[in-house]
Amino acid sequence: MKSATAKFKSRTIAVVRDLSIDEQVYLYNKTRELKEAINGKKSLQPFMIDDPQVGVYLAFLEDSTRTRESFKNAAHFHKTRMNILDVDHSSFKKKESYSDTFKMLCGYNEYSVFIVRTKLEGVCRWLESSLTEYANRNGFSPPAFINAGDGKHEHPTQEFLDEYTFFEHKKWDRNEIHIALIGDLFHGRTVHSKADGLKIFKNVTCDLIAPEELAMPENYIAKMKDNGFEIRIFESIKEYLANKKIAPIWYFTRLQLERMGEDIREKGDRLRRMVTFKRSYLDNLPEGVRFYHPLPRNKLDPVIPTFLDSTPLNGWELQALNGYFTRIIEIGMVGGKIGYDFEGSPPDIPEFIDDFIEEVPPVTREKEDYKIGIKPITKGVVIDHIGKGDEIETIWDHILKIRKTLSLNLLSSHGVFNSHKTNQHKGIISIPDITEFDQKNLKKLAAIAPECTLNFIKDQEVIRKFRLHMPPRVYNFDELGCRNPDCISHPDNAEDAQTEFYRSHANKFICKYCERPHTFKEIWKQ
Ligand code: CP
Repeated sequence: MKSATAKFKSRTIAVVRDLSIDEQVYLYNKTRELKEAINGKKSLQPFMIDDPQVGVYLAFLEDSTRTRESFKNAAHFHKTRMNILDVDHSSFKKKESYSDTFKMLCGYNEYSVFIVRTKLEGVCRWLESSLTEYANRNGFSPPAFINAGDGKHEHPTQEFLDEYTFFEHKKWDRNEIHIALIGDLFHGRTVHSKADGLKIFKNVTCDLIAPEELAMPENYIAKMKDNGFEIRIFESIKEYLANKKIAPIWYFTRLQLERMGEDIREKGDRLRRMVTFKRSYLDNLPEGVRFYHPLPRNKLDPVIPTFLDSTPLNGWELQALNGYFTRIIEIGMVGGKIGYDFEGSPPDIPEFIDDFIEEVPPVTREKEDYKIGIKPITKGVVIDHIGKGDEIETIWDHILKIRKTLSLNLLSSHGVFNSHKTNQHKGIISIPDITEFDQKNLKKLAAIAPECTLNFIKDQEVIRKFRLHMPPRVYNFDELGCRNPDCISHPDNAEDAQTEFYRSHANKFICKYCERPHTFKEIWKQ
């Protein structure tokens, strides 16, 4: 039975999606069982790790009350060893990297579960790969990482406690949910996590209530729509209350002043008024509405004023307490204690099929007669259609990037021309004497100049022809860089996290760490 209990051991929860829907539902059912066991004064042993060789390490590089204290108490519940990294007196102050710091810390326990909160985004995803490699190299179990909030990216364990609370609210009915998200939807990571977390409900209507300056980022709205949610958008609570279909669940977030630029901070009072609940609104609320909030509330300007604390609208107090119970189960799962009876599906692992290199039959046509430039070659390779349709300047940039990245600094010629067929601009590089490209260089070329063609020439005839398409994943080039300054992989953060982008079906390139979408052009360093 021992190995069967370890289904979640060494798993990282960096984003909500790191647990499949089945696994999330399992977490909620276990939390329910735990609460029933506590209320019924039953044995709690089945939920407890009870092993001092397991260490729970809290590393909070950003302030917290609820998340840190609930995880700390959850670790005590489990009777594991519990440590708190003294961040303010650690070697982070001497510019030690995250990777080196956590390598050190995981040597202190037979098996470690790290709970990590940071201003930087994507830290747990990076530590997962860096520390797994380190653990394998040194022959011990890779540690588990739990993201306790990373910048304005995600807060998966808050999401799990929120969804658990909505589940209780809905008396365990997963058929549908109608929810209003209110406040700072731009900076609030807890509302960003909802784009995936709400998927446990089969039908989702999500009303987004925020002034334009604090609106939900487009990429999260797109994700919600992709997930089948019905989305409605309102600028203020006043406007929302004028509509007929009011959600029974209201989820408020505070204005995250600490993450805002000066320009938005100056407008703070006006923006806050638009998402603060007023006494005069009470008459417009339908029966049965409940308010939730991840907390903390800003005591000077709370979006849920304190006069509401003693009304039936108050759902946020019990919501916050649920964090203790869900986090006991989360530590139990990745700590290797809970999971023996899980029978659902694991998360989907994205597959990257290398079908972007297409060999096509060579066709020898009459040579194009360019007014300028390139002489036909008898033997070698011609890279054609580079950046077809782009601005001339962009095509030159592609040509130079290809030469630099593929080290094509040989006797050869290149230029920007008009395509005879389409009358669009395109780039051509013509290199004598090169008779093949290895797979790695073909992949590189596809990443830099998707939709280009390669013609290998012998005796003035095209003997092989390849058409290169946009690859599903771009990685392993020094020239790549995430544009988000708060991303762990941003070059300024000097963490050495290998940059990697996945192509979304909307042809955006998503950073593996912070999940910020980029256009193809943006993924290349300037
Ligand atoms: N909800 C939440 O993350 O609260 P803390 O910042 O107090 O942990």
